[in-house]
This record gives sequence, C-alpha cells and structure tokens, in this order.
Amino acid sequence: MRTIDIFDTTLRDGEQSAGINLNTAEKLEIARQLERFGATVIEAGFPASSPGDFEAVEKIASIVKNSTVTGLARAMKSDIDTSWEALRVAQQPHIHIFLATSPIHMEYKLKKSPEQVVDIAVEAVKYAKKYFPLVQWSAEDAFRSDPEFLVQIINKVIQAGATTINIPDTVGYATPQEYGALFKFLKENVTGIDRVKLSAHCHNDLGMAVANSIAAIENGADQVEGTINGIGERAGNAALEEIAVALHIRKDFYKIDTGVNLQEIKRTSQLVSRLTGVAIQPNKAVVGKNAFAHESGIHQDGMLKNRETYEIITPELIGETVAPLSLGKHSGRHAFKDRAISMGFELTDEQINEAFAQFKKLADRKKEITEEDLFVLFTGKQIESADVPIYDLQNVQVQYGTSNIPTATVSAVVPTGEEVTVATTGSGSVEAIFNTLELLVKGEVHILDYRVTSIGKGRDALGEALVNLSFNGEVFAGRDVSQDVLEASAKAYLNAINRKLLKEKLKIKEPAIG
Ligand code: KIV
Ligand code: ZN
Repeated sequence: MRTIDIFDTTLRDGEQSAGINLNTAEKLEIARQLERFGATVIEAGFPASSPGDFEAVEKIASIVKNSTVTGLARAMKSDIDTSWEALRVAQQPHIHIFLATSPIHMEYKLKKSPEQVVDIAVEAVKYAKKYFPLVQWSAEDAFRSDPEFLVQIINKVIQAGATTINIPDTVGYATPQEYGALFKFLKENVTGIDRVKLSAHCHNDLGMAVANSIAAIENGADQVEGTINGIGERAGNAALEEIAVALHIRKDFYKIDTGVNLQEIKRTSQLVSRLTGVAIQPNKAVVGKNAFAHESGIHQDGMLKNRETYEIITPELIGETVAPLSLGKHSGRHAFKDRAISMGFELTDEQINEAFAQFKKLADRKKEITEEDLFVLFTGKQIESADVPIYDLQNVQVQYGTSNIPTATVSAVVPTGEEVTVATTGSGSVEAIFNTLELLVKGEVHILDYRVTSIGKGRDALGEALVNLSFNGEVFAGRDVSQDVLEASAKAYLNAINRKLLKEKLKIKEPAIG
C-alpha cells in the first residue's frame, strides 16, 4: 500500500482564522496531541511573524520527537535566519518557504516579473539549505499560476535543493479534476520530481478542499496538508480527519495508508475546538456531534437489526469509546492520578495535586465527575501558562427577576493590580454582565458570537462559554468553563480581552498570508 504523509498546519494556517489567538501553552498542548494523532509534519507557526510565534515554534520543536516540526518563512534571508533560530533544536530541522507564482500575485502583490520571482525562490532555497536538511518550497496560488511557469520554477528550486514541493490552491478555486490534472502534469514534466515530496494544500472556499486533496493523491501527491476540523483562513483548509477516515474506510478503492492514529481523532478534534473556541458544526463529517446519530425510525430499526445497514464508520474507529466509570467525591488521589495517566496526560506531581484539589471541590457540587469533566480539568492544568491574567475575575453577582431590570456587579483585579468593582444593568442577565465588563475594560466591545454548551450530560453538567468579540476593532475569542454558565460567560469575556492585551504585550504582528 502507498503511504501518504500528513502535514498539519492547524497551528499556522488554522491559527490565522479570524478570532483565534492561542497562547504558547495551548499551542504546545495541541502539538503534543498532533504528535499522538500521527501527523508526519507539524507546522508550528511562522517564527518571523512575532516573538509569540517564535517562542511557540521553538518550544514545540524541542518537545515533539515523533513528527517533523516546521515553520513558515517568506523567501527572504531574515525570515530564514529567524526560522533557523527557532527550529535548530528540532530533531530534523525543516523549513517551509513560500513565494507567490500566479500572474495576479506577482504583478500586484509582489510587483515582480516572473524572472525575478524565479531568482528570489532559488536564492531563498539555496540560502535555507545552508542550515536546513529539509526545505519545503510552496508556490503560493499555484493553482492559478501558469503550469508551464510552474514547471520552470519548480525545476530550478529542486536544483537549488528543495526536498518538498507544495502546490497550494490558496484561494480554494480548483475542482478535483483540474487540481488532479495539475499534479499529473507536474509529475510528467518536472525534472527530478520523483526525488522530492510533492504536496497538496487546499482551501475550502468552494467546499472542495478534501475532494481536491484526494484528487491530488490519486495523481501523484505524496503529502497532503490541512488542519484539524478544517479550521483556517476564510472557509478553512482541508480537514485532515476527513481525509484520513475517507482513505481508511475506502482503502479498498484508494489503497492508501496515512499512518494517522485514527483512535486519536475525536480527542484531537475536541482539543482543537475547545482551545481555539471554534465550534464544530453538528453535522460535520467524522467529528460532528451528529455524525453517528441515527434519528429516523427506519434507520434506527435497521441499526438494531444490523449496524452496517446505515453505519459505514463506527464511533470506536475515531476513539469515541464507552467512557470508563466516573469518579466521585470518594475517589482517592491514586485513582485520580491513574485516570490522568490512562487518558494520556503528563502532569507533574504538583499539577496532579492542584487538579485533585479542584476535582474535590467540583465533586462536592456535582454527583459524578465524567470523562469529559476530567478532560477539561486535566487539559486546563496542562495549558495553564505562566501569563498572569490581566483582568482576573474575583466575583460576579446578578440580580434578576422577571419584573426587575437585571443588574450585574463584577469585581475584578485590573491591569494596575487593584481590585475594582463595577455595576450596571442590561435587558437580561448576560447582557447586564457584558455591559458591566465593558465598563470595566474601558474600550469599545462588540459581541460577535456567544455560545454556552454543557460538557457532558445531566443537569449538574459543567457549562462552557465561548465569546467572540471585537475589542477596539480587533477580533478575539475567549472561553472558560465553570459550574455556573453566568460565571463561565464573564470569565470567557475577560479571557478574550486578556488575549488581546497579551498580544499587545508580545507585539504580535499579523502575518499577511493565505
Ligand atoms: O494557502 C497557501 O498558499 C498557504 C501557503 C503559505 C502555503 O498557506
Ligand atoms: Zn493555506
């Protein structure tokens, strides 16, 4: 069976989506999980874009051992130097250099002639080869480029030492037939194409990213790039879990292996959704909450008689296993620690002790602590960063009555270190809290999206709040979990504001790429 490499760019192209701002601890947690998932390459960020990205790429490169770690760079020496500083600690240093090749990008964005673009690409690859054994070169907007020009430039970058050639459909314009045909054409016309890895990178603007990636594989691609849950710029990237499961379920047809550990899909998907704040649509293939739900009577009847009547993928395949016994307030530290280990968490004794104390508090208020509660608790401990929250909620109180005007009073520690109490009203409890917090943070806040979901089942389930807001014109997502949804909402709001202030502290610039 042919094996295809999986290049994950959740932490780079995925993190570029509007409103996603992961801190270093969160990125590390996702990278560890991507390693368990079996990504061949993890694109950990864009080191030259900000000190925050640099730090995350360097840390990921130093801890991840079973996946190759890479970082994105523009075709310029300074980006390559910075990438080397971040990636030199990696087991197999790998860099990903990109340069646009389509007429529209060369003329309007780069303001360079095709000949100049060839020279810049060759220079950059040669320069990178001085440091990096593995150099991936991407022809940005390759699909809208002249195929003859692609052959010409790829010939030259291979001669310059590139080890992977990536052919992105940057704007998500391709159809499967056309994208596949481009791969076939390059396979037949580029000198030495069989000595390098040929890679596909698809965006989902027309909803064809997964189909296009598979068409590329059928026509010679050795690697596919994408993100978990398909997050990414605009309509997102190809969803890696969909590609992996499609190739697995239809291996009779494709005869391709990806090396993905399918059992880790559910957990990877949930972690990415939770930490990025990007909810998974319920009917999303493979990982949506309804992906295995059979509603209609006829289907349910068929399922009872023989599951294969309507089920082509089992929940077990992607790691959605029957949960082991829940823990409760009488469970001891030993059982608690064992559960953390069996769930794959690597926590220090101190972290276990702290998590155990939180667990005991929760167990006093909640009858059964489920696998999902533990997942939230352990992940929370693992991603706790050294960053001190800039606004730290101390207390929130809401007065609500059907015939009263709801009033919220919030006390929080503010950036100057003092504790401040503010109160105001709203037309509902949540609006009263958000209005009060707006007074506290002294900026212009617009709520773009607000969701509350329960973690697991039951009336005493934990509540998770996601708040997507713009603060003085910039978009941020915040999240938090609490037993009370109003408290979770207030904390999620402040979490979004803290991300903005932290970003300013780290002077993070936005990378201008697709
Ligand atoms: O979509 C794209 O072209 C990219 C490149 C930077 C590879 O993400
Ligand atoms: Zn992209």
